[in-house]
Amino acid sequence: MMKGRLYAMGVGPGAGDLITVRATRILARLDVLYAPAGRKGGDSLALSIVREYLLPHTEIRTCHFPMSSNGEEKQVVWDEVAQQLQNEVMEGRQVGFITLGDAMLFSTWVFLLARIGRQEWLEIVPGITSFAAIAARTVLPLAMEQQSMAVMSCTAPEAELEQALKAHDCVVLMKVYNRFATVRALLARLNLFEHALLMADASLPGEQCWRCLDQVAADQPLPYFSTILVNKQWHTKE
Ligand SMILES: C[S@@+](CC[C@H](N)C(=O)[O-])C[C@H]1O[C@@H](n2cnc3c(N)ncnc32)[C@H](O)[C@@H]1O
Repeated sequence: MMKGRLYAMGVGPGAGDLITVRATRILARLDVLYAPAGRKGGDSLALSIVREYLLPHTEIRTCHFPMSSNGEEKQVVWDEVAQQLQNEVMEGRQVGFITLGDAMLFSTWVFLLARIGRQEWLEIVPGITSFAAIAARTVLPLAMEQQSMAVMSCTAPEAELEQALKAHDCVVLMKVYNRFATVRALLARLNLFEHALLMADASLPGEQCWRCLDQVAADQPLPYFSTILVNKQWHTKE
């Protein structure tokens, strides 16, 4: 029997050609692929990225990871999916798990990894993280020479975001969607508008970029895939 293996793959920020060659080669030899879905029974963006690289016989299992604050509900799902992945490997199957951007950054995969642990049958394939794609697309560098960079989730307390913005040359602000008003006010207070830009749905068909945050209303509705880049050493206005 062939030895089972699990491949956790970052599939990039959205565009089908911002995925690594290694990931596409692995995708083309999977028995089963696990894809996280945003909503129960809903579509998986990660799955739509990789579909063109899959063989017809690969079984696809979409799994819904609740975003609710109910910790117990989440733990049950993570336990179940981690167990399913391990069972498939023990049955000798080639198993894939896909995740957007890079697999090791703000990714559900890490909750599964915490349960699975380091294994000789596990390989993690890196992906282009959203902020790398945004920096390239907007022509805004991240950090150079002695400069420092922080990657923050806007779900962090405002005081921590402020500390990071004061301490580092470059700050990536992820998960900005429903915290935009707070973050916008913070950037205004720290006089950082001319060093900041906001990008939503980078590399996807609905991609949007705002280079003048002073012209974006505080109640502007934003998609979940929205990120702010700040570089104090660079002016973002064209
Ligand atoms: C759960 S995290 C996933 C991060 C992912 N693992 C990565 O490496 O980019 C979701 C956050 O990533 C950012 N993000 C992911 N894809 C994006 C995209 N295509 N455009 C803009 N932001 C994106 C947003 O800040 C979003 O709230």
